[in-house]
Amino acid sequence: MIKVQVPGTSANVGPGFDAFGLALTIYNTFSFEEKTDGKLTIRGVEKKYQGTTNLVYRSMLKVFKKADHHPNGLYIHSDVGVPISRGLGSSATCIVGGLFGANALIGSPLTTEELFDIAVEMEGHPDNVAPAIFGGLVVSLNDQGKNFYIKSEVHPCFEFYALVPDFPLSTSDARQILPKKINFSDATHNLSRATMTYLALANGNEDILKASMKDRLHQPYRKKLIAHYDVITRKARDMGCLNTCISGAGPTILAVNSVNNHRFQPEMAAYLMAKMPGWQLIALFPDNAGVQILRG
Ligand code: HSE
Repeated sequence: MIKVQVPGTSANVGPGFDAFGLALTIYNTFSFEEKTDGKLTIRGVEKKYQGTTNLVYRSMLKVFKKADHHPNGLYIHSDVGVPISRGLGSSATCIVGGLFGANALIGSPLTTEELFDIAVEMEGHPDNVAPAIFGGLVVSLNDQGKNFYIKSEVHPCFEFYALVPDFPLSTSDARQILPKKINFSDATHNLSRATMTYLALANGNEDILKASMKDRLHQPYRKKLIAHYDVITRKARDMGCLNTCISGAGPTILAVNSVNNHRFQPEMAAYLMAKMPGWQLIALFPDNAGVQILRG
């Protein structure tokens, strides 16, 4: 039996669209066993995810194919801690869990870099799978088929809160709504802000982060898909948090708070309970370890 723990992630962090994301202390844990009963058994998820279309299973097949391995039966169990279709990298955890689990089951023939390449190809963009694999704050790019990444640890002056709505949003719907072309001025607006957001998170520049997280590439379009977005982000700022953004493709809102601002959690919890009782407030810290093989 192999157990694999994968952190949830928050991609984009405002202006870093499809470029960077950070791993957080919220996890999906997958257990794997190779069987000889000729069956695929998937547990821990709804019936509709228990067949051959299961993303963890499809990811495992990629590794088996590359390693020319042919299992005669598999058992997969998912212990789900990352909310599904909420912008916290749930599908990336399935891809990374399946790839690393399959690889560990058969004696690790593929390198982490090879698994990273497959994960990026499957997800279509790297900003969730990269931090899920490497942990921390990770910026990555693909150049002529080759993936590159740089990892930094988030400065300990920051803590994060996921404000998770009671409705899902599919990544493909949230990508569909984006324009096919953007203005030159919007591109330049994001370049400096994305760079400074990454560096401010790594270096602990709280004042810069208050200004740098504005985005013009995706949030202005996507916020229309998130009920109460404007009021909640305004309230969060009133409660002293440094900044907010859409987590990944949404609908979760990520609040970046200073560890010294003790008002935010109790005030936001009370506000949500009174006004939007279906929403969850989850306190999170950066996960710097990334994917972990827990038992082999
Ligand atoms: N960068 C991606 C997006 C993350 O914003 O669409 C979602 O998986």
